Amino acid sequence: MTTTYPLRLAMVGGGPGAFIGAVHRTAALMDGAFTLVAGALSSDPAKCQERAAEWGIAPERAYDSWREMLAAEQALPEEMRAQVISIVTPNHLHHEVAIAALHAGFHVACDKPLTTTSAHAVAIADALESSGKLFLLTHNYTGAPMVREARALVAQGEEGPIGTLRKVYVEYLQGWLSEDLETTGQKQAAWRTDPKRNGPGGSLGDIGTHAHNLAEFISGQRITRLLGSRRSFVEGRAVDDDAMAMIEFEGGADGMLRCSQVCVGRENGLAIQLFGTKGGLEWRQEHPNDLTIYSATEGPLTRRTGNGYLSPLAQSSCRVPPGHPEGYLESFANLYREFADAIRSGDPLPTHLPSIEAGNTWT
Ligand SMILES: NC(=O)c1ccc[n+]([C@@H]2O[C@H](COP(=O)([O-])OP(=O)(O)OC[C@H]3O[C@@H](n4cnc5c(N)ncnc54)[C@H](O)[C@@H]3O)[C@@H](O)[C@H]2O)c1
Repeated sequence: MTTTYPLRLAMVGGGPGAFIGAVHRTAALMDGAFTLVAGALSSDPAKCQERAAEWGIAPERAYDSWREMLAAEQALPEEMRAQVISIVTPNHLHHEVAIAALHAGFHVACDKPLTTTSAHAVAIADALESSGKLFLLTHNYTGAPMVREARALVAQGEEGPIGTLRKVYVEYLQGWLSEDLETTGQKQAAWRTDPKRNGPGGSLGDIGTHAHNLAEFISGQRITRLLGSRRSFVEGRAVDDDAMAMIEFEGGADGMLRCSQVCVGRENGLAIQLFGTKGGLEWRQEHPNDLTIYSATEGPLTRRTGNGYLSPLAQSSCRVPPGHPEGYLESFANLYREFADAIRSGDPLPTHLPSIEAGNTWT
C-alpha cells in the first residue's frame, strides 16, 4: 500500500499538564508529516478524553489504556489505523509499550531514555528486529541544525577545521531539583525521583542521557569506558541528582561528562566542547543557533543557522532565514519529518537519526 502524507500518529502519554507530549504533537504536525488520530493519553480515562477533545482526537479513538488502543487500532481498516505510536510516558512504561506496539505492527517513536535496564533495551531491539518496522528514539538535540553542523565538521577529520578529535567536555546542568520538589505533589519531580518509574539513574537517566548522546552524535564515536560517581544531594532522595564521569571514546579521544539537577538557578544548560589536533567546537543548547569554532590562527568564529555556508544536512534542518531564532521544537520536528520520510519511502532510517543504538542496547 502506498504510504502518503500525513502519516497517522497515536500517542501514549501526553495528558493534561504533561510536558513532552505536547512538544511531540507540535513537532509531528509542524511539517504536515503526521496527523494525530488516536491516544491513550493518560492513565486516567477522563483525563485522556479531556485532552483528546482539546487536541481534536475523536472520542472513540481516545482509549482508556494503551493496550486497548493497540488492539482497537490494529482492528481498524488499514487506511484508518494509526501507523506510528509515539511513547511519551514516564520511563518505566517505554519498553512494554514499545515491544507491544512493534509486535502489533506499528512503527515507534519513543522519548529518551530508551528504557530503565539493559535487559529491557535488548528486548526492544529484538522486537524491532523481528518487526521490520522503524524506531525513532527522540534524542531531539540531534535534530538541531548546529549540532548536525558540528558532527559534519568533526567527521571531516584532518581535512576539516577540528582535525583528529582529542577531547570532549559535555555537561547538562539544571537546578529545578535543588530542593525536595517531589514531596510537594509536583508530578514530574515525583516520577523522576522514584526509581520504580524513572529507573535507577536519576539525573543520569533524565539528562545525563542527553549529554551522552550529544557526545557520541557529534564525535561520531561510541563511549567505550568510563569512571564515574553519582550523588544525591537532597536528603532522602532515592536516585542521583548529580553525576560526573571521565569518559573514553572508541577512536582514542577522552573527556568529561557532568550532569546535575541541583545547580541552583540553571535552566537547561546542555553544552558541549570538542577539541582536536587543529581546532575546537562549542555548542550551547540555550543559544542553539550559534556554533563557535576555535582555531589557533583565526580566533573564535561563529557559524549560525540559516546560512548557505552550512553543510547540506544542517541547511535542510533550518526553517527560517539567518537571524530568526529556531530551536527546541524545530529539532524535534526535524526528527519527526525525517522519520516520516523514511516510513513513506520504505528506506532504512538515515544514519544521523537516533534509533535503537542511541539507546545503548549492549548488556
Ligand atoms: N527529549 C526531551 O527533551 C524530553 C524532555 C522531557 C521529558 N522527556 C521524556 O519524556 C517522557 C515523559 O516526560 P514528561 O516530562 O512529559 O512527563 P509528564 O509527567 O509531564 O507526562 C507523562 C504523561 O504520561 C501519562 N501516563 C502515565 N502513565 C500512563 C499510562 N499507563 N498510559 C498512558 N499515559 C500514561 C501521564 O498521565 C502524563 O500525561 C519521559 O520518558 C522523559 O524522559 C524528554
